[in-house]
Amino acid sequence: MEHFEGRVAVVTGAGSGIGRGLARRAVGEGMRLVMADVEATALEDAAAELAGAGSEVLAVRCDVSKPDQVESLAAEAYDRFGAVHLLCNNAGVFQGGIAWERTLADWEWVMGVNFWGMLHGIRSFVPRMLAGGEEGHVVNTSSLAGLISIGYSGPYVASKFAALALTECLAHDLANQSAPIGVSVLTPGLVDTQIANATRNRPDEPPSEAQAPDAHFVAGALRDLTANQGMPPDEVAGIVFDAVRANRFFISTHDTSKELLRERFDAVLEGELPVTTQFD
Ligand SMILES: NC(=O)c1ccc[n+]([C@@H]2O[C@H](COP(=O)([O-])OP(=O)(O)OC[C@H]3O[C@@H](n4cnc5c(N)ncnc54)[C@H](O)[C@@H]3O)[C@@H](O)[C@H]2O)c1
Repeated sequence: MEHFEGRVAVVTGAGSGIGRGLARRAVGEGMRLVMADVEATALEDAAAELAGAGSEVLAVRCDVSKPDQVESLAAEAYDRFGAVHLLCNNAGVFQGGIAWERTLADWEWVMGVNFWGMLHGIRSFVPRMLAGGEEGHVVNTSSLAGLISIGYSGPYVASKFAALALTECLAHDLANQSAPIGVSVLTPGLVDTQIANATRNRPDEPPSEAQAPDAHFVAGALRDLTANQGMPPDEVAGIVFDAVRANRFFISTHDTSKELLRERFDAVLEGELPVTTQFD
């Protein structure tokens, strides 16, 4: 998809971080915009910023882990604008910790948002986009952690590998049908966002420091890394729009990820566990 002006974008997780950057960029490209987020105050704030810029913005509170809420989001988007051209399944949460120590509730929360939320987005929007018959594009946010595994982050890494696999399968299925819908997967390295504070949007009580010292340790490390070394979200959004224009499948943000991928696949071919030496 090369032209964005006047077309319609949907961004989930649009209240903060990368999603907010994507929303800002969509409006900058002259798109009409549907912003969705579970955090009402952040969503209102982001929508006020962008509506103030004179663009057509629809803000919908939506928990992407709930299929009925995503279906309502799609219905509202089509009622208001009649079409969707760019779908960004971006909402995501982080939960770290040792795999066997994390509770089922921890795993279900992360998989619910990062994997099921993406699948609900695909199931509610892609059939409507196909029926509309217009050119379109889907951008799914996975992570560098969807390509490379690290310790102490099992729930997040597993959800992001699943998100990556789902996105590749979506791309195969659309290409096999010669559909006019392109697909990309965004696999960022560190970005300066609120991802390390993701439990702010957890529907149940997050585990305390005493209950989950491993998870708190990892979240603290991620907080420091994203704040001190993270790329600005607006820069990520620029990279995403360039990739959609070029119809590029993999969207990476950091050149260093190439070396990490080489190390990973060398280890795979040697039959060894891939160990990541450095992650940015
Ligand atoms: N920040 C990084 O370093 C980084 C790196 C790789 C991938 N990512 C991915 O980027 C995406 C965006 O995260 P971010 O870094 O901008 O973090 P962020 O916390 O700043 O933004 C995430 C947004 O998603 C929303 N959200 C959370 N749960 C939701 C739900 N159930 N339904 C709808 N919205 C929900 C949050 O309210 C928030 O506005 C995520 O998928 C994340 O995994 C981030």
